[in-house]
Amino acid sequence: MSNNERTLSIIKPDAIERNLSEQIKLIFTKNNLTIIDSKKLHISKDEAAEFYKVHQSKPFYDQLCNYLSSGPIEVIILEGENAILKNRELMGATDPKNAKEGTIRKLYGISIDKNSVHGSDSAGNAKTEINFFFKK
Ligand code: CMP
Repeated sequence: MSNNERTLSIIKPDAIERNLSEQIKLIFTKNNLTIIDSKKLHISKDEAAEFYKVHQSKPFYDQLCNYLSSGPIEVIILEGENAILKNRELMGATDPKNAKEGTIRKLYGISIDKNSVHGSDSAGNAKTEINFFFKK
């Protein structure tokens, strides 16, 4: 049975700064994820705080919001069969040190903060996160 889904990917400041956006998008498209929409933007700390509010009780929250607002990012809607899980597999573990060979974070991540990409972790969050950046 098919399970066509949409998910949100963010190419984070460390990857934009190193011009990795095209390579990362190729990994998505070679793995049967379609780019439905994308845009580059530079969000404020308040916007980052709103986006990451599920993490507001975490000790790294302030640092995380500072980082996501520290430079340009690219936000991307991906669509495909099991897109949420597939994107998470392509990204690899949150900490690049623990990410499997060939994953985006293993290839390009620098640290747990500068881990190059974000991806929605559930169907509910995918909807919320897509609406956050692509309100029509
Ligand atoms: P991301 O998938 O964007 O979701 C939240 C981010 O918090 C995560 O990637 C990491 O970049 C960042 N982060 C920083 N410290 C930690 C930590 N100790 N555990 C999990 N995520 C962390």
